[in-house]
Amino acid sequence: MAKRTVSDLDVAGKRVIVRVDFNVPLNDGVITDDNRIMGALPTIKYLIENNAKIVLMSHLGKINHKDAEKTEADKAKNTLAPVAKRLQELLPDTKITFVGATRGNELEEAVNSLNDGDIVLMENTRYEIGETKNDENLARYWASLGELFVSDAFGTVHRSHASTVGIAQFLPSALGFLVEKEVKFLGEAIYSPKRPFVAILGGAKVSDKINVIENLLEVADKVIVGGGMAYTFFKAQGYEIGTSLLEEDRIEVAKAILEKADGKLILPIDTVVAKEFAPDAEAIVVNSTEIPSDYMGLDIGPKTIELFKKELEGAKTVVWNGPMGVFEFEAFANGTKGICKAITEVPDVLSVIGGGDSAAAAIQLGFKDQISHISTGGGASLEFMEGKELPGIAIIQDK
Ligand code: 3PG
Repeated sequence: MAKRTVSDLDVAGKRVIVRVDFNVPLNDGVITDDNRIMGALPTIKYLIENNAKIVLMSHLGKINHKDAEKTEADKAKNTLAPVAKRLQELLPDTKITFVGATRGNELEEAVNSLNDGDIVLMENTRYEIGETKNDENLARYWASLGELFVSDAFGTVHRSHASTVGIAQFLPSALGFLVEKEVKFLGEAIYSPKRPFVAILGGAKVSDKINVIENLLEVADKVIVGGGMAYTFFKAQGYEIGTSLLEEDRIEVAKAILEKADGKLILPIDTVVAKEFAPDAEAIVVNSTEIPSDYMGLDIGPKTIELFKKELEGAKTVVWNGPMGVFEFEAFANGTKGICKAITEVPDVLSVIGGGDSAAAAIQLGFKDQISHISTGGGASLEFMEGKELPGIAIIQDK
């Protein structure tokens, strides 16, 4: 059943708390990718145009609350101040007040003096130790700052925290446009895909993706596996994988998955290997089942790119999560680039990229506009693909 969205609420003149995901990558206080801020703009602009008084809340990074010195260092590193600056550049005609606190007079006064269409951005929710514990008193306090709540932090809807789930228990709530869009695209791909439906999974670890692989084997027509986790599957079949990434304790699971897959799971046929894990390491291409004992696999090879391209032919739905190799090193980025390009070349396909590294790769490589949907959620999109219920969405009442 459809969930209530922000356009179902009467927001004019009301204080509306919006949980956004402004957990953006920072390098020395400079935002290196503002995709998540851009993703939040449709809801924020709608609220400005509809005369709401907007209170934005987000986490940024992680804060260690166990050691006082570390807490202070983490707080300094993870302030939302640079985000406030970027948001003001994106919304030059809007009054945006950044409050460097998560409770107290300054925050309450800023919220109480909001005019219609103005924004208060509160400091990082994780400055509060109770945030990740979904502390009830904290959630009640934050809820007391607003009259309505909007859940628009897709990247964080898999977390049951005070600002994602707690506040929604005390205020009339709705989904924002970003979460609505993410659920539409991911939902269409996973729950009602046009077939053939091909899933492509990569990344370093089998352990992170076991549940995703199992669920995708149920719902997709083919599951292509590349990246570091492929080596555990080769080891499970008894092949030499040299010094490639291996999760020894997942070999049995990999065997069981291979058996259950009944031919649906497609692995690389050739691999780019090197003796060291280094950007300038000398690379050679070998058969994936014949990796020399002193070499490690760092990318899929050219024959594999062609094979995966063939497997993608005629697909009507493609979901991709996780790089095919160590794409941070130029010499081992060809597999990830090749697959990304191959997805954009499939005609009339619904293409969805789960967040994290694969989303960053697609954007960096300039394919952003040729993909139907690039998710802003890493962990959240994986849990969605596992078929799990996401607490920050489940808490919102059905219409
Ligand atoms: C993310 O970056 O995936 C989200 O913002 C969630 O962050 P977290 O893993 O620190 O909860």
